[in-house]
Amino acid sequence: MDHPWWRGAAVYQVYIRSFADGSGDGVGDIAGLRSRLGYLRDLGVDAVWINPWYVSPMADAGYDVADYRDIDPLFGTLAQAEAFIDEAHGHGLRVIVDIVPNHCSSRHPWFPAALAAGPGSAERARFFFRPGKGGRGEVPPNDWTSSFGGPAWTRITEADGTPGQWYLHLYAPEQPDFNWDNPEVRAEFHDILRFWLDRGADGFRIDAADRLAKDPALPDMASLADGAPRPERGQPGAHEIYRGWRRVVGEYPGDRVLVGEIWMDLQHRAAYHAPGELHTSFSLDLLFSLWNASELRGVIDAALESGAATGAPATWVLSNHDVTRVVTRYGRKDTRFVSYTITSDGSAGQADLILGTRRARAAALLTTALPGGVYVYQGDELGLWEVEDIPFEQLRDPVWERSGHTDKGRDGCRVPLPWSGSAPPFGFSPDQAPPWLPQPAAWRRLTAAAQRADPGSTLSLYRDALRIRRAEPGLGDGPMTWLASEPEVLAFTRPGGFACVVNLSGVATELTGHRGVLLASGPLDDGMLPPDTAAWLRTA
Ligand code: NOJ
Repeated sequence: MDHPWWRGAAVYQVYIRSFADGSGDGVGDIAGLRSRLGYLRDLGVDAVWINPWYVSPMADAGYDVADYRDIDPLFGTLAQAEAFIDEAHGHGLRVIVDIVPNHCSSRHPWFPAALAAGPGSAERARFFFRPGKGGRGEVPPNDWTSSFGGPAWTRITEADGTPGQWYLHLYAPEQPDFNWDNPEVRAEFHDILRFWLDRGADGFRIDAADRLAKDPALPDMASLADGAPRPERGQPGAHEIYRGWRRVVGEYPGDRVLVGEIWMDLQHRAAYHAPGELHTSFSLDLLFSLWNASELRGVIDAALESGAATGAPATWVLSNHDVTRVVTRYGRKDTRFVSYTITSDGSAGQADLILGTRRARAAALLTTALPGGVYVYQGDELGLWEVEDIPFEQLRDPVWERSGHTDKGRDGCRVPLPWSGSAPPFGFSPDQAPPWLPQPAAWRRLTAAAQRADPGSTLSLYRDALRIRRAEPGLGDGPMTWLASEPEVLAFTRPGGFACVVNLSGVATELTGHRGVLLASGPLDDGMLPPDTAAWLRTA
C-alpha cells in the first residue's frame, strides 16, 4: 500500500498515568508502558498516542507543561522515553506524541520571567498580559470564561507588591496562554517539534489546536453579533502557524502526521485540512450523536464528503480521556456526551451497562470498518465503564474545584486499567500500591487477564477486529458504498468482498447476500442480527 500509514491507522490512546505503573507509586509511567508493549502489539493496533509525559506540576494532569523537552519524574526519564520509542518501533508500532501549544504551565521558565520583567516587556509579550478595566483595574480585560469554569483571566501582583496586570488562561490559571503572534513562541515550538522528531516521533496530536490564534482585539463575547466568528477559537491566524509546522515535519523522512484536537463542527474543522496544514483532525462527531441509524449515517456521510473535498481522512473516535466512557454513554437513552455537569449530578439517569456494552461492541465494529483511521481509548478494548462514584475527596480533575463543585470532571474515564487478579489494584501497580484513582471491585471480571482467553470478551472482539482489519485490503483508508437496508440498519461494503451491518432497530434483521460471517459483536439469533449488534460479512 502506498498510502501514508496514518490514513488508515488504528491508534491506541495511552493515558499514561492510568495505563500501567512500573515504579510502584500508583501512577502509570513509561516503565509500565514498556512492560506492556507486547499487549499493544498483540491487540493489533498500528500506533500509539501518548498523552503528555513532559515535566509538569500536574495542575491539569500534564497538560500544564513546564519543560517540553524532558519527561516528568513521575513518568520516568527522557532516556526511558527514547528507549520506549525505539522499542515501539521494533514492534512495528508508530508513536504519536501529544504537543500542548496553546498554553504552558505557570512554572514554565518563561512565565516567572514574564512576571518579573514587568508590563511592556518582551517576556510578557510571549503571553497575554493586559491591564484590567474599572477605576483600579479590578475588572478582567474581557468577559471570556475558562473551559474549566470561572473567568479566563487572573490578576497578578507586580514585583513592587501592587495589584497588577491580568493574564489570559483559556483553561486553569496554572495554564497561561501563549501569544502566538510572538515570533519567539513560533520559533520555540518549531524547535520542540524537531526535538521529538529527532527522537523518532511519528507525529503529533495537537492539543486545543483551534485555540492558538486569537482575535487580537480580544473582544467581549457579549459584544459579538449572533453567528460572528468566535474570538478564541477557529481564528484564521492558525493557518499560517500550521503551514510552518507542516514544513518542519516535512523536513523529516517517512510519513509523520499532524492530528488536530479541534472541538468544532466539521465545516470549521475541515478548514484546518487545507493543503500544507494539518494532515487530519479527530472526528469527534460520534461523541455528539444519538445511537440511531439516520444520525450515524449523517455523520459518516459528512465525514466522507469532507474527506473527498480536503483529502483528509476521517479518524473515528468513540471516547477519550475527556469524555464519558462509551459503555456508559451508550447505556443511556441520550447517548450524546454533553458535559459532566449533567452526568455527575445524576440527572442523566443510571446507565444500563449491559445495553451500553452491547452497543459499544457494535460501535467498535462500525468504527473499525469505516473508511479512515480509528482511535481506541485505553480501556475501551476491555469494555470499561465510567466510574461515577469516585468519592469527592479523591477527585483530581481541576474542573471539580473550578466549577465550584458542580461538575465532577473527567476522572471517571481516567481510572487505572485492570490488568489481572481479583482485587484492586488489579496488577496495575507492583506491590499492591493503591492506584491514584480507585478502581471498582467489579472490574475483576474485566481485567485483561480474565478476558484474554475468553473468545466472547470485548478484548477478544477488539483483537479479532483489528487482526481482520489489518488483513483486509479494503479496510482502513479507501472507499465505502452504502447497501440498501431497512431504515434503522446501517449496511455498507468495502472493496474486496467485505460488508459491515449494524442493527440499530429494536428487532432482529436478516443478514442477506453473504458467504459467511467474519465477526459479530454479539451472538447471532438463528442467523439473524439482533438489535444493537454488528456483523462483518464476507460477500464475495
Ligand atoms: C484538551 C485535553 O485533551 C484536555 O485533557 C486538557 O485539559 C485541555 N485540552 C487543556 O490542555
